[in-house]
Amino acid sequence: MTTKLADIPLVDLRAQYATIRDDVRAAIDGVLESMELTIGPNVRAFDDEWAAYVGTAYAIGVGSGTDALQLAIRACGVSSGDEVITVSHTFFATVEAIVYANARPILVDVDERTMLMDPAAVAAAITPRTKAIVPVHLYGRTVDMRPLRQIAQDRQITIIEDAAQAHGALLEDGKKAGTAGRVAAYSFYCSKNLGAYGEAGSIVTSDERLADDLRALREHGQSTRYYHPVVGYNARLDEIQAAILRVKLRHLDEWNARRRAIAARYAELLADTGVITPEMPAAGRHVYYAYAIRVPNGRRDALRAHLARRGIGTQIHYPVPIHLQEAATFLGYRKGDLPVTERLSDEVLSMPMYAELADEQIERVTTAVREFMRG
Ligand SMILES: Cc1ncc(COP(=O)(O)O)c(C=O)c1O
Repeated sequence: MTTKLADIPLVDLRAQYATIRDDVRAAIDGVLESMELTIGPNVRAFDDEWAAYVGTAYAIGVGSGTDALQLAIRACGVSSGDEVITVSHTFFATVEAIVYANARPILVDVDERTMLMDPAAVAAAITPRTKAIVPVHLYGRTVDMRPLRQIAQDRQITIIEDAAQAHGALLEDGKKAGTAGRVAAYSFYCSKNLGAYGEAGSIVTSDERLADDLRALREHGQSTRYYHPVVGYNARLDEIQAAILRVKLRHLDEWNARRRAIAARYAELLADTGVITPEMPAAGRHVYYAYAIRVPNGRRDALRAHLARRGIGTQIHYPVPIHLQEAATFLGYRKGDLPVTERLSDEVLSMPMYAELADEQIERVTTAVREFMRG
């Protein structure tokens, strides 16, 4: 009789929970005993701790990464008629947040090597209506900010970083993702390197006025209770999620270090299999939210099915680029407009990636990839 090997999921939140269960339960219990449920001691403490970790003067906890982007874009004064340049190779929310501000998303191609925003494409897309640039540190790898800062400085364009996938990743100057622009958005969606048990996000900035505006915007635009100088949102972070995030933040660096070690092992074991492994940038610049390999020659979906048969979970980040999404038809893009992005969406496949992934599991994944690619 053969024993069936346990499945290897894309992300295993239960394995992580097992390592922090007592602290998480105590934190949740503390909130329930106090019954302070919205902006209270945990949100205030987490805002301070997260700002200190990122290296900005302020952090404003909100309900999700999408809230974070939406409020950041709005607080920077982006409005109707403005153009905002971002990538099409991203999660839908990046572009959604621009549309919420009634601005026009201008979608540019990515660099084939990094899979991130191509600065030359940004330079070519600038017009007198360009109000902001939203670089996305996709998969946990940071965008080279120097050329983008240059473009932005010359023309007084605001940089709003989408750091939703890059908790703890470093920029080329050694500072953390989220410190390069005027403001940045983080997501703490449950599967992220730092994830809540539900939805949460944060906006980071060192601009005091902007931080005040953002704090007002997250609570219906009120300056003090029931006084509303502007129309805002209900975008509050709740106390239970903040308490959980405070526990998990203490482990983030150690979890990211393990993700890097897993990425290095994947790269070693997948060399010469015919898949393209992601380039490994200088230490610290990648925190491997996703380990996205590329499978050329139209074999991606068959490899994915093969891995599924072996009980190995994978994901495609992302199968349809934003410029070809049905909801983006009004923007007028067509197939062929962003060739690198379109090629990546046909080839990328994210492998299981989480800090608790064991060496033996990494070997099972890579053996299964090798087996398929040989056939
Ligand atoms: C690149 C990117 N931007 C924005 C978001 C939106 O964050 P949330 O899901 O927390 O609203 C995500 C989350 O998945 C993301 O990956």
